[in-house]
Amino acid sequence: MTQHSLVDLAVWQDLRGQAAAWHGRHLKDLFREDPQRAERYGVEACGLYFDFSKNWLDDRVLAGLLKLAEERGVTARRDAMFAGEHINATEDRAVMHVALRMPPSARCVVDGKDVVPEVQAVLQRMADFSTRVREGRWLGASGKRIRTVINIGIGGSYLGPEMAYHALRRFCHPQIGLRFVANVDAAALERAVADLDPAETLFVVASKTFTTLETMTNARAAREWLVRALGEAAVAQHFVAVSTNTEAVRAFGMDTEHMFGFWDWVGGRYSMDSAIGLSTMIAVGAEAFTEMLAGFHAMDEHFRSAPLRQNLPVLHGLISLWYNDFFGAQSQAVLPYAQDLSRFPAYLQQLQMESNGKSVDMHGRALPVDSGMVIWGEPGTDGQHSFYQLLHQGTRLIPCDLIGFVEPLADSAAQHDLLMANLIAQAEALAFGKTAEELRQEGAPDAQIPFRVCPGNRPSNVLLLDALTPYSLGVLVAFYEHSVFTQGAIWDIDSFDQWGVELGKVLALRILDDIQGKAQHPHDSSTRQLLARYRAARRN
Ligand code: F6P
Repeated sequence: MTQHSLVDLAVWQDLRGQAAAWHGRHLKDLFREDPQRAERYGVEACGLYFDFSKNWLDDRVLAGLLKLAEERGVTARRDAMFAGEHINATEDRAVMHVALRMPPSARCVVDGKDVVPEVQAVLQRMADFSTRVREGRWLGASGKRIRTVINIGIGGSYLGPEMAYHALRRFCHPQIGLRFVANVDAAALERAVADLDPAETLFVVASKTFTTLETMTNARAAREWLVRALGEAAVAQHFVAVSTNTEAVRAFGMDTEHMFGFWDWVGGRYSMDSAIGLSTMIAVGAEAFTEMLAGFHAMDEHFRSAPLRQNLPVLHGLISLWYNDFFGAQSQAVLPYAQDLSRFPAYLQQLQMESNGKSVDMHGRALPVDSGMVIWGEPGTDGQHSFYQLLHQGTRLIPCDLIGFVEPLADSAAQHDLLMANLIAQAEALAFGKTAEELRQEGAPDAQIPFRVCPGNRPSNVLLLDALTPYSLGVLVAFYEHSVFTQGAIWDIDSFDQWGVELGKVLALRILDDIQGKAQHPHDSSTRQLLARYRAARRN
């Protein structure tokens, strides 16, 4: 890895020059000039077709971006990750979520030990347990079947399982529902249990550290709710833990026999394939979960072995970085044309923004360029009737990912045609827009023309998959994981720590003391005033 500042590299300067010269070029012209453009800028792997032709790039730009990836050591860092090196340097940890989805025959050494047997052993315990719950062989304390599983966890211990539960709706057990409690707002638990019978409810307390305030608070409240109805002795049948911290699980008063472990080399936002996926496995079953892991693994292998020009996550990461660092784009929209992927943008927010929301490099030096973009989105077509106006005619550059599936996600092929027509039309409209001339020919009144012109030239990627299955979900998530990795490697940041979230946690506890009158910490006038108003008006 070179120690040169990123911006001093000749390839960076060259890309900067290309970006400056790019202004004024329109996607319309690029497609007119090159009838093969879609074929040349479309790549398929693991059942994912990635059409990146509607982007502000040509072969020269692409060559520059690929050279940048090489010079910044993307492949070396990737290989270091797969080799179990401590690439999460600030926490001195390996980054081995890829080991979670390796087949049982694989070998993967982390800190001198092959971890695949341990991973498989936990998966087997998860499979045994989830099968018992699914088949009604794991019963509540009063002998009733479990009908609802509530995952109590936050961040990476919540977003993946919730996203997957919605995404894999059609594969879920018909008589077992999943609910999620993350927020420390008691309304979350109150809402989740409002219509439930405690005797039919199983809580999965999911926390890597088992110290997270929100999760521990909600777990205690859930325990009280259960004990009120069924008594203390019922807890063991209705609570299981997922964590890396056996001691904390024990200290919390939970039976470690009903604990599913994982390892510190699995980052929270990369943990949906670990035991954190227990609720997912209860919902979809061990077989479907295994298929999901196979999808992840297929994309891992693609990322590991495909040449960079054919490497989907590398291409995606480079294109994101191109808009971010050379055109000042601040955000990226993720637009799944699939209702079942409604929580996918929220999942990607943590994946991308917690990973790459950094402002110093691996050596602690200030980054000379912008790092991770803001990620946001909603399912199409809902977004079309909400914020797409800004995408089409606003002043900001917002590159978009449009994600679609060939097979319908519900039993109406005709409606699916409508959905897909919208996806394809939106990508077309974003890129090519509508000119004043076209509007005039259609008879638009002159006075309206300036308001109705859509300038087009708005870049987008289209990600097309056959069907939304456990396998393809794995492919899709791993695709984004490695895109994040690629960008982080180019910036030379630690994409696997999250020190920035710690400050708020510490301050919240200090302020809690102030609220409860246990301390009077010094604060600024705004904080003091807010505290005083809240204290004067609060009920307890
Ligand atoms: O918000 C910070 C964070 O540490 C995330 O990285 C993590 O996913 C989440 O909190 C939950 O942590 P835990 O699984 O330890 O409860």
